[in-house]
Amino acid sequence: MKPKIIVARPIFEEVLTRLRAHFDVTDNQADQAWTLASWTAQLAQHDGALTTGIDPVNAEVLKACPQLKAVANMAVGFNNFDVLAMTAHGVQASNTPDVLTETTADFGFALLMATARRLTESEHFLRRGEWKQWRYDMFAGTEVHGSTLGILGMGRIGQGIAKRGAHGFGMKVIYHNRSRLSPELEAECKAQYVSKEELLRSADHVVLVVPYSAASHHTIGAAELAQMKPTATLVNIARGGIVDDAALAQALRHRTIAAAGLDVFEGEPQVHPDLLTVPNVVLTPHIASASVATRMAMANLAADNLISFFTQGRALTPLNTVGA
Ligand code: GLV
Repeated sequence: MKPKIIVARPIFEEVLTRLRAHFDVTDNQADQAWTLASWTAQLAQHDGALTTGIDPVNAEVLKACPQLKAVANMAVGFNNFDVLAMTAHGVQASNTPDVLTETTADFGFALLMATARRLTESEHFLRRGEWKQWRYDMFAGTEVHGSTLGILGMGRIGQGIAKRGAHGFGMKVIYHNRSRLSPELEAECKAQYVSKEELLRSADHVVLVVPYSAASHHTIGAAELAQMKPTATLVNIARGGIVDDAALAQALRHRTIAAAGLDVFEGEPQVHPDLLTVPNVVLTPHIASASVATRMAMANLAADNLISFFTQGRALTPLNTVGA
């Protein structure tokens, strides 16, 4: 008998077809919204699951799912997982690193440029029919090339953004991270390690790429925003909750900083109402890894993680060790 797996959200038909060759698959191509209780009840009837970054697998859920053996997250971030609880329940957790690094770095840079050069604000102005004539100061923004790029969180995606900034745009790159990069990687990224305070004080553009955890909750709040230059921009492609969105909306309204670009939000898909009413913010719906090719690669890697676990006993990109 094939193991039973559930795919929590719609995915590419091709990937479902691959999965069906190995598993008895429950899909959710209709994108039915599950409450926590109905999701838990569904999961409890399966041996494995393919989740996206919003489907919770925590201690409470796991308690109801003794049959569950592996969950593959189609995301590099995994704050929807309680990995310790998964390990305790003998459930293999996996994510999709590497395949989305460059695409996400592209988007981080796109968001930085759109924010600094006021792309969406000016487009909305044009669409409203308010463009009457050229003006010397119309939507004058902040320089990108030659400016100082500060990256908070220097994993693979942070390094990708650093390289784009340093090599493509002649930016001075400074970074802060829990651990310092090797001298070789620092040279490759042309990046200089600084304290968080120094980064906030001197960067023209601050890009956040830190993983979310209780420890990184509100890494950027009112105090940190107050340390930034009034001309600076802030870009968050990490996770909602890294930034205190209410404090950010205040800082944008009072021009404590010049502008922000946000792909992730506290409590998404809800967006703090104050962010929707300030003009100097570019808002996108958590799409940093969303190129067709990359989303396909992520779905395939998540599928391969399940196939590998159920045929070889180990996912290809595991987050924990289970079994013997
Ligand atoms: C997207 O946010 C991811 O973690 O892959």
